[in-house]
Amino acid sequence: MKNILVTGGAGFIGSNFINHILLEKRDDYNIVNLDKLTYAGNLENLRPSEGKKNYHFIKGDITNSDLVNYIFEKFKIKYVINFAAESHVDRSILGSEIFYRTNVIGTNVLLEAARRFEAEKFLQVSTDEVYGSLGEEGLFTEQTPLSPNSPYSSSKAAADMMVLAFHHTYGMPVVITRCSNNYGSYQFPEKLIPLMIINALHNKKLPVYGDGMNVRDWIYVIDHNKAIDLVFEKGRTGEVYNIGASNEMPNIKIVKLILNHLKKSDDLIQFVQDRPGHDRRYAINSYKIQNELGWKPTYTFESAIQQTIEWYLQNKNWWERIISGEYKNYYELQYKNR
Ligand code: NAD
Ligand code: TYD
Repeated sequence: MKNILVTGGAGFIGSNFINHILLEKRDDYNIVNLDKLTYAGNLENLRPSEGKKNYHFIKGDITNSDLVNYIFEKFKIKYVINFAAESHVDRSILGSEIFYRTNVIGTNVLLEAARRFEAEKFLQVSTDEVYGSLGEEGLFTEQTPLSPNSPYSSSKAAADMMVLAFHHTYGMPVVITRCSNNYGSYQFPEKLIPLMIINALHNKKLPVYGDGMNVRDWIYVIDHNKAIDLVFEKGRTGEVYNIGASNEMPNIKIVKLILNHLKKSDDLIQFVQDRPGHDRRYAINSYKIQNELGWKPTYTFESAIQQTIEWYLQNKNWWERIISGEYKNYYELQYKNR
């Protein structure tokens, strides 16, 4: 039995990961999910995993070292997969403190516990945003220097540096994954794709930042999680693995595709004031994970995006509860003066 501490497992990617792992296979995995249940954490995401005897949920904060140490001891944790983070760039621009607290201090607390209890693997879930912004040419490789531009990405880069330092100094068996933008079910509606789907369904304006030509490299969340699983099992200690599906797209193209799928007019698009410090382009070279570990994406963007839009159409209860809560205040603050 592998006792694995999964943090942030009630969020978008973490919940998809736990559901995938527990449903697909792995009776030899015992998963302890530690999540603070911030605005982004939602236990409804984990319905498919509830009640399984190799799944446990604990509500708590990764910055709480007493709690983290207690969990390591009680569950004999030997593996960590750290998804927990404040994850939204726009929120990090509105206020950065919680980003550094959770993403940097929280990672430090987990690393210290992993050191104390001699963890056999620590997988840090990171992002391509640590590399900064690309011009029209080129791709991020694992050798690209870190050059983060937002409070969010700088907090993730700081955590990456710390994870590698723990490997270098203490020989801790760490691995880092850096993935591009994800889409799929259970993504919180502050992010581009669900926000645009939900606004379109309400015939509300679709706020596109700047000229809409910023490029992101989109990957379906299940492909990301299969890659994490593989790196967790087979990744070489001390290494970084980029994850991406070679699917670059300007934002405006995705927004139009969503409108088209929902049979709504492009007139709903509203170009609004740009995000401060908005990274122009992200694009991933995932040669290393493909070549070394044999990973490749299995979903095409064309089919997985349709599947995702359909999921939001069929799960209105899930997002209606979200957008009627704290989200309303956030939306007002973020979009009213744009
Ligand atoms: P999310 O915001 O949907 O979920 C984050 C989860 O972490 C939530 O359940 C939240 O309650 C929990 N959390 C936050 N602070 C916590 C704390 N102090 N203690 C315990 N739990 C806490 O984020 P996501 O999109 O699922 O991203 C997961 C990870 O993947 C993050 O580390 C993010 O940086 C990384 N990542 C995300 C993307 C993307 O496109 N969404 C791409 C690459 C990497
Ligand atoms: P987002 O989903 O916030 O992910 P990230 O900033 O981490 O890449 O945004 C994806 C892209 O969409 C990014 O270029 C910003 C843009 N965007 C908009 O144009 N309008 C919006 O309302 C949002 C949320 C994002």
